[in-house]
Amino acid sequence: MRESPAIGDHIPPDRTLLGPGPSNIHPRVYNAMSETVVGYLDDSYVDVMNDVQEGLRYLFGTENEYTFAVSGTGSAAMETAFTNLLEPGETVLVPSNGYFGKRMGEVASRAGAEVVYVDAPWGESLDPGAVADAFEKHQPTVFGFVHGETSTGVKQTAVPELAEIAHEHDAYTIADTVASLGGVEFHTDEWNIDVVYSGSQKCLSAPPGVSPITFSDRAVEKIHAREKPVRSWYLDLEGVWEYWDNDPNYHHTGPISSMYALREALRMVCEEGVENRWERHERVAGALKAGVEEMGMPLAVEDECWLPTLNAVSVPDGVDDERILERLVSEHGIEIVGGLGAFDGEIFRVGCMGNSARPENVAHFVTAFGNVLADEGADVDVGAGIAVTAAALSE
Ligand SMILES: Cc1ncc(COP(=O)(O)O)c(C=O)c1O
Repeated sequence: MRESPAIGDHIPPDRTLLGPGPSNIHPRVYNAMSETVVGYLDDSYVDVMNDVQEGLRYLFGTENEYTFAVSGTGSAAMETAFTNLLEPGETVLVPSNGYFGKRMGEVASRAGAEVVYVDAPWGESLDPGAVADAFEKHQPTVFGFVHGETSTGVKQTAVPELAEIAHEHDAYTIADTVASLGGVEFHTDEWNIDVVYSGSQKCLSAPPGVSPITFSDRAVEKIHAREKPVRSWYLDLEGVWEYWDNDPNYHHTGPISSMYALREALRMVCEEGVENRWERHERVAGALKAGVEEMGMPLAVEDECWLPTLNAVSVPDGVDDERILERLVSEHGIEIVGGLGAFDGEIFRVGCMGNSARPENVAHFVTAFGNVLADEGADVDVGAGIAVTAAALSE
């Protein structure tokens, strides 16, 4: 007889989630997740899928028919975009100035594409001139870029210009909005982007596991005309669309409870209004930014490409960033994270996303962060930072 393991209770700690995601989930979304599970083709679940599609079209700013949620996290949506749009041997252009741009390259290379990179220093957004030069040199058929680069806290500016360069070369664009959709202004149709994907656990504050994606008609035509089948069965758009189309058929079992959660999160976006949501993120994160800067810690990015949903705060001299992170969790229940790659040990990454992007969280964070840093010997003016944040939040 096998010996069964002793699996005990699990009581997660209470955390203020101000890292790069997940963000704190609203009680309404938790309630939705506990609704009764029905069959994956039950009329009531099909209604939920339809509501999700409607909510996502509003959120993306698109009329695209092929708009749905991938069953998987943001990386599955990334893989859906690249593996469907690219055929083996095609050339894809992606950025090298951040962790997730590089992941795009890895995903595209596994789809059989030739990967070429356009560079910018970490902490800056891509320059349209450099993208135009890379197009001339490499003639890619697909160009992927990251709208909100979570590893650097950089927002890609000049998105319509980048799309124009791609379309002048008859190429297709893929935008990663995992860390920005619902928190930062984005217009899929107006900016002429072919494929846009995102995640549920950041600016939408739903649990991870269902990821928004949208394909333009032009992108769908390219996919329909493929010579070779998509290398992934699970993420093949033709198959997945069988499930999301008007007369749905089984393709895989829908992540039912997670879809309930996403539907509720989208309902909350619709109630708030997407423009108000962008404004809230900018205002609340702006108070955070102003506070840490006043304390003496500049952000590692220029204001022009500041990403409100992810703030890259420079680590002050002489401070052990790991120790600050540990103390914030253990003493204040606040999660933020450190830097990656070229920014390892250089920045704290402070998220301000979705239901976490609230004045009380930012006030709590700025106070706790300043006090822990001062206690660790950093040269920071805590009182001045707290005052500036408080003033910005009361505006
Ligand atoms: C910009 C960006 N792209 C892609 C991903 C991958 O998403 P996931 O971790 O949900 O698979 C992330 C996750 O942090 C991200 O921030």
